[in-house]
Amino acid sequence: MKHIYLLGSELNPTPLRVFIKSLKQVPYLASNYLYDMRRYLKHSSTLGYGSKNKLRARIIAIYHNVEKGLSLPAPRPGFGESNLSYLLSAMDLYLSRHGVDEFLQAPASALSAYVGFNRAAGNENFPERDRILKTIERIGVASPECGGTVLVTKAQIGVATQNVGAEFFTSRYSVRQYSDEDVSEEDIVEAVRIAQKSPSVCNRQTCRVYVIHPKDQIKRVLDFHGGTRGFGEHVNKLLVVTNKLSSFWGASERNQCWIDGGLFAMSLLLGFHSRGLGACSLNWSKDSNVDREFRKIVEIEEDEAIIMLIAVGHIPETLNVAVSQRRPIEEVICCC
Ligand SMILES: Cc1cc2nc3c(=O)[nH]c(=O)nc-3n(C[C@H](O)[C@H](O)[C@H](O)COP(=O)(O)O)c2cc1C
Repeated sequence: MKHIYLLGSELNPTPLRVFIKSLKQVPYLASNYLYDMRRYLKHSSTLGYGSKNKLRARIIAIYHNVEKGLSLPAPRPGFGESNLSYLLSAMDLYLSRHGVDEFLQAPASALSAYVGFNRAAGNENFPERDRILKTIERIGVASPECGGTVLVTKAQIGVATQNVGAEFFTSRYSVRQYSDEDVSEEDIVEAVRIAQKSPSVCNRQTCRVYVIHPKDQIKRVLDFHGGTRGFGEHVNKLLVVTNKLSSFWGASERNQCWIDGGLFAMSLLLGFHSRGLGACSLNWSKDSNVDREFRKIVEIEEDEAIIMLIAVGHIPETLNVAVSQRRPIEEVICCC
């Protein structure tokens, strides 16, 4: 490990050193990419939708197309014929495997909203009409608010955001000093609830949070992680944010779990910040060997990719935080 780090840290290698480095790094990188590819192929839905979670992810992705269509400025009556047909087939398959359950409420409500939209537009001849009505009847729409669209006003959003200034965001720091006070279960649940509002591809929402709290287990995991020297012993709760590979499919989604996972993790940090707690992201920039070993000490489901760890604790009365200077804004905003 140390050897690899030293190779990577050479600041100004000669062309010969670059060549020698590439002889070592290319196979090392390739074996790590291969590890990711094997895991993706094994656990994603690329080769089919055999498990409940895989089929659910697919159904969410398709029914969400109906909701998205209904949320456009001027939806076309009868839109989405092929999407609807695919959705109904996926729901039929789900019903045959698992029967009616709570999960189906959202897709059934989206279909019900689609029917309502068409009827309001005077279109009784929408695609897949009979199959849609039969499916809605079979499932029953007990919670219509969980699918379709919801009307919001600019005034409502204005009220909700009027007291949230830039300071809320600029006052968040990575906190590496914590008091002895316990982070409550409620704090964690509420921060995760906030993180759940993160956008995710097709609304699949596949991130999970493992909470590690006994002190000896936190120590064990952090010793293994190695990125918290000098503050690990004060961490009150340790979170592992993961994302389910089974909810993604195909080559184009091979990196999607990291994108959705990163957005979720950022919201989680802001969730803790909103509750006055301190948190510090802990990288999971680890190679395949470390990833494999970690799974032996923390029981993470096999189909989940590890996004990052987050240390959480109460903030002491005063503390030093790293400045972490930001780049000039002109280096960030590009005009095309
Ligand atoms: C994915 C990720 C991994 C990080 N890993 C670590 C880590 O292992 N140890 C640590 O002390 N800080 C870690 N950080 C915190 C960064 O150093 C910090 O976010 C950055 O300097 C910006 O500072 P700020 O969070 O105070 O705004 C990580 C941040 C991110 C986003």
